[in-house]
Amino acid sequence: MSSNVTLEKIVSLCKRRGFVYQSAEIYSGLNGVYDFGPLGSQLKQNIKNAWIQDLNRGKEDIVFLDGSILGAQQVWQASGHADNFSDPLVDCQNCKKRFRSDDINLEKPCPSCGIKKWTDVRQFKLMFETQLGAVSNESNIAYLRPETAQSIFINFKNVLSSTKVKIPFGIAQIGKAFRNEITPKQFLFRMREFEQMEMEFFCKGEDANNFFDIWVERRLNFYKNIGLNMQNIKTRHHAQDELAHYSKACIDVEYNFPFGFKELEGIAYRTNFDLSQHAKFSGKDLSVFDDEKKESFVPHVVECSVGVDRLFLTLLFDAYTEDEVEGEIRTSLRLSPKIAPVTAAILPLSKNLSENSIKIYDHLKKNGFRVQFDESGSIGKRYRRQDEIGTPVCITYDFESIEDNKVTLRDRDSLKQERISIDQIEYYLNNILNK
Ligand code: GAP
Repeated sequence: MSSNVTLEKIVSLCKRRGFVYQSAEIYSGLNGVYDFGPLGSQLKQNIKNAWIQDLNRGKEDIVFLDGSILGAQQVWQASGHADNFSDPLVDCQNCKKRFRSDDINLEKPCPSCGIKKWTDVRQFKLMFETQLGAVSNESNIAYLRPETAQSIFINFKNVLSSTKVKIPFGIAQIGKAFRNEITPKQFLFRMREFEQMEMEFFCKGEDANNFFDIWVERRLNFYKNIGLNMQNIKTRHHAQDELAHYSKACIDVEYNFPFGFKELEGIAYRTNFDLSQHAKFSGKDLSVFDDEKKESFVPHVVECSVGVDRLFLTLLFDAYTEDEVEGEIRTSLRLSPKIAPVTAAILPLSKNLSENSIKIYDHLKKNGFRVQFDESGSIGKRYRRQDEIGTPVCITYDFESIEDNKVTLRDRDSLKQERISIDQIEYYLNNILNK
């Protein structure tokens, strides 16, 4: 990460290059809601693929779920969200601005208008409520899920009885979550509609602490593997009074954002709170039988939960680099090839060479590589465009290529150039993708 990276620079790059747009921008925007453009949606997909691959790499059994976004009222009553999932809200009586009271100092005047005239602090419910069907009454209320985890808990028995998994095992899910944040802020950091990647690992109570440590290490390794600079990452244990109502221990994996160290991922020991609650509220038995001890028990859970969008933002901050090349400031995203939305750009040196070089592009695309073909503008400008979107390799086809069947590969970070034979390109790209 460049020391001079700012949120404004990231927001501007995201819009300019088609990573992220404000939702409903032509109608002056929807606060805390974003749309992902062509490069952004690819980057998001790469993040999710990396997460899935990482879970599948371990020796633990992990199965996947795609639960519904709409959740029945009872689910959120059982989970405790209906009563507890709220943030402390305060209004400025002078300028009418709203704040999370834990974001500001109530001893001081309003940061917006400079007058000190606060209302009392009250709890503001974060769940979005909606009605199912045409008749509006209490029993039709449903909620947009504020976390994906609950669909995992309510399907625990379904998964157990329909697959071959046995305790200990994990159920993982990627999906949308919704929170009516009082003050959505810092771009993708705190949104109202976002995506989570969550994994609930079910185990015996006596093994939970051990699995908690295993998962902290696994998750840190994941961040290393996708290329984050580990000097910008630290872990922080939650103090007792900070723990969520369901959790006995929690570690935040924090990233050093320009606005300070903040949570990237939460790893929590949720005890058997959720399954016990759902068993109590639904009247269904959610225990499993321990063959060794010959008794039933309700499994305990270690949870790893990270926002796709928050990780997206983290990766952009971490990769953003400004350096001087030929007397000009060059902006590049030093994303790992695994994560970069485009792996290679094919650039004919002149438009006369397009016909030959597009064959390379077609071939790579057909074989599943994420490639771009770019023939417009000077070669210098095209390099800069690719650097700015994080493309690790530019492949230039020049007049000599017609004779020797070779192309020039330019590395985004070192700017080193090497000439390789066209039939070696796939091998080269596979190599950098699997590093
Ligand atoms: N199931 C546990 C849970 O939801 P959380 O700490 O509230 O815990 C987990 O959320 C992760 O989801 C966070 O670490 C963050 O990466 C992401 N996240 C939470 N709220 C978010 C928001 N408003 N906007 C973007 N990402 C968010």
